[in-house]
Amino acid sequence: MAKVYEALRRAEEERKRKVQGGAAQVPAVDWDPTPHTAPASKAASRKFGGLFRRASGGERPTAAGNAAADANKRRISLLEPDSFIAEQFRMLRGRLDSLSAESPIKTIAVTSANAGEGKSNVSINLAVVTAMSVGRRVLLIDCDMRRPTICGSLGMEAQNGLAEILTGRCTADEAILKLEGTNLEMIGVRMQPQNPSELLGSTEMRALLEEVSGRYDRVILDTPATLGLPDSKIVAGLCDAYLMVVRAGETAREDVESALEVLDRRRAIGIVLNGAEMGHERYAYY
Ligand SMILES: Nc1ncnc2c1ncn2[C@@H]1O[C@H](COP(=O)(O)OP(=O)(O)OP(=O)(O)O)[C@@H](O)[C@H]1O
Ligand SMILES: [Mg+2]
Repeated sequence: MAKVYEALRRAEEERKRKVQGGAAQVPAVDWDPTPHTAPASKAASRKFGGLFRRASGGERPTAAGNAAADANKRRISLLEPDSFIAEQFRMLRGRLDSLSAESPIKTIAVTSANAGEGKSNVSINLAVVTAMSVGRRVLLIDCDMRRPTICGSLGMEAQNGLAEILTGRCTADEAILKLEGTNLEMIGVRMQPQNPSELLGSTEMRALLEEVSGRYDRVILDTPATLGLPDSKIVAGLCDAYLMVVRAGETAREDVESALEVLDRRRAIGIVLNGAEMGHERYAYY
């Protein structure tokens, strides 16, 4: 845990530095640190553009899905194998693998204390690099049924999602989308239920996790913020472990402490310090 506290200390220092400097605003949303040169964009587009399809049906992404594909390309281009950020996520994957060798970690919830601290981006990037390991099948589940973003971020529109599975409207296979040419599959959100917490805490959710744990090598679950909502506590409680995302320069240390307290800090497997300035790049993992 010493490294975790060191990470929190550094995050707190950065936050204070920004506040003192009068830069209290959240950084610009367009955060792709890779240069937007034509060759890089084309390469990313060739590699990832329009690759998602429904695993069960072969139905193509809709026009709305295609419209969101630009955002997809921005995010996915972060994972160009040579980038510093991709390297950070590979290190995170390696660390999770070595922890998993001690005691198997199949299901990992990704959360943060507050909204907008980078949970969904971390979930996506971690899922993509994990799926890049040879022969490993990975499932990414959007458990944020209040403010789902996974599908939109990846330029997709789910025909069926998590709530449909949990209410018996479809099977898991009917909701799963596959990233062609990779081992990454995902369950997004289509129907936004009135009672997300109850659905997440249902026996159907347990059954789903049991089913997919048997079929995938790793399952990554994106969740809402921990403070103020029960959802991430419920999901983290169903998972083998959870990752806490801290937004460098934004998240207050006491909020991280409270979130760790709410979730049971013994089951935290790490903290991702998102947005840390390291050279010109913006991720660090502890
Ligand atoms: N390192 C970063 N630098 C700059 N912007 C970032 C960074 N990480 C995330 N963002 C931006 O911050 C916003 C929130 O990111 P993201 O959706 O991943 O957070 P979240 O914690 O999942 O949010 P929510 O609580 O709403 O689900 C997005 O617009 C994203 O592009
Ligand atoms: Mg999110």
